[in-house]
Amino acid sequence: MKSGAWTIEQRYNLRRKLGREKNFQYSEIRENPTEKQVGNLARTADIVIDTKRCTENDVLVRTVSHLNIRAGRGKGFVDVLIGGQYGSEGKGQIAAYLSRDYDLLIRVGGPNAGHKVFELPDPYTHHQLPSGTRKSEAKLLIGPGAVIRVPNLLKEIAECNVDAERLRIDRNVMVITDEDISAESDLVKNIGSTGQGVGAATARRILERNENTLLAKHIPELTPYLGNTLEIMEDAISQDKKIMLEGTQGTGLSLYHGDYPYVTSRDTTVQGCLAEAGIPYDRVRKVVMVCRTYPIRVGNPKKKTSGPLREISWEEIARRSGYSVGRLRKAERTSTTNRPRRIGEFEWGLLRRAALLNGATDIALTFTDYISIKNVNAKRFGQLTQETINFIQEVERVSGIPVSLIATGFNSRSIVDRRSW
Ligand code: IMP
Ligand code: MG
Repeated sequence: MKSGAWTIEQRYNLRRKLGREKNFQYSEIRENPTEKQVGNLARTADIVIDTKRCTENDVLVRTVSHLNIRAGRGKGFVDVLIGGQYGSEGKGQIAAYLSRDYDLLIRVGGPNAGHKVFELPDPYTHHQLPSGTRKSEAKLLIGPGAVIRVPNLLKEIAECNVDAERLRIDRNVMVITDEDISAESDLVKNIGSTGQGVGAATARRILERNENTLLAKHIPELTPYLGNTLEIMEDAISQDKKIMLEGTQGTGLSLYHGDYPYVTSRDTTVQGCLAEAGIPYDRVRKVVMVCRTYPIRVGNPKKKTSGPLREISWEEIARRSGYSVGRLRKAERTSTTNRPRRIGEFEWGLLRRAALLNGATDIALTFTDYISIKNVNAKRFGQLTQETINFIQEVERVSGIPVSLIATGFNSRSIVDRRSW
């Protein structure tokens, strides 16, 4: 053994001190015929590790690597779902529909997002759990970059009958305090923030960085759910699991790529969502970008703006679609704040930019019933109105990617599925 490395005797004595060996002297042990040969082992061993220079985990990973078990080499993959406009694109409906195809559903972002899923007698709106929670048996995970409101999350867990075996919340998830919510009152007035405290908590996460900053691991009620995302991901990938990462809000609200200051407090693109979840880019298979036929922005309660939109009236949507204005106004209140939404013309430039920015592979087009109420009855592509088919073909031309999922309304059978995967 090289000088500086441990002798077997030193190691033995340390183990004795730690109480891991019976109380024999090393010289006595050496009389044992097997022990006598120990010094020769290094010559025939596959690997010799100086454990004094390594942690236990270092020894483990070096040893395992000699067994030809290559880290992260499973066939598991991640499909990502994000919004292509300003949120409220109907991500909940699409995510819930797709959820049955996956073993693990991951949510990032915070409770400023509301993802509504059709259900009778009333739809269910998820704020912090993945939208497939009530529609699938998949395992659930909230990634480390997420921001949570603990009482509301516990309520959502209870309402959805999620047991501790099924859900993991990363230990490093940030916790929103009452003060975070009060701190956003000006943002609510100025840009129509949802005022859920997500941005304030995120800012504190950066500014404070002290032992008292509350994370999920400090909250006793969350103890049964705590987990380590990177370990869960590594297991899932190596066991060939199918994973869906559900992003929140929309590309146009991105802190970096949106119309600042009319933006949210995070990067809402695929890249941002991957960072929040800790997923490597090379595990991503499909990126589904959800877009509405008419984008919306949340209204500003103080009548100031909530950002640029080529706004049109609900009367005009009613005229074009065949819906009554009353029906539209009733449906188009935001999931989180119950405020009326502003609605605008489809933005082709944003479509192209968002498709490129997110590396989208597929588009899910929602609210085709707003083009014509006749689409509600369509079960196949060919049953959509000609105007709708033309619109979809134009979306495919401008974005350069297929419209693989088409929502024709908000009910249990309202998705035309043209996926090739
Ligand atoms: P905040 O993220 O709540 O501060 O809101 C910033 C801006 O993004 C406001 O205009 C919000 O209405 C909008 N916003 C944030 N989250 C969502 C969402 O999930 N859907 C729609 N709009 C959102
Ligand atoms: Mg929403």
